[in-house]
Amino acid sequence: MHRRLFLKGLGLIGVASSIAAPKIALADGMLDPMNSNLTGSLFYTMEAPGRWAGKEAGHVPMIERSGNMIEVTTGHEMDGYTHYIIKHILLDENLEFVAETMFDPQTDAPISTYDISGMDTALYMVSLCNKHDAWLNRLAL
Ligand SMILES: [Fe+2]
Repeated sequence: MHRRLFLKGLGLIGVASSIAAPKIALADGMLDPMNSNLTGSLFYTMEAPGRWAGKEAGHVPMIERSGNMIEVTTGHEMDGYTHYIIKHILLDENLEFVAETMFDPQTDAPISTYDISGMDTALYMVSLCNKHDAWLNRLAL
């Protein structure tokens, strides 16, 4: 049997084209990433640790500002490639990528620094664990 006829018989033709790719509106009506329906499910915060409740302290990236520099620290172990922080990602107030720091779990601590000159309202940091997913924090400027 031809594939098209088989699909037609099942009533499936046209179904795939009618399934829209999920989109998240982040323009003017940008949702608050610290308190959205994705917080605690797709990524996690101190207030919304989701399925990783109890692991907040070791995963939320902590941000300290000194002038135009920030230092970001994740209080997480670096147990070789078994369990470690893969990277930090700096996003601007519109969640646009600005910079990232990759970590070598055999030699690095999960600490990164960034020059935030030109950023004037807020920034977001993501810390990515190889076992416990992505954790978000925000710094108002
Ligand atoms: Fe972890």
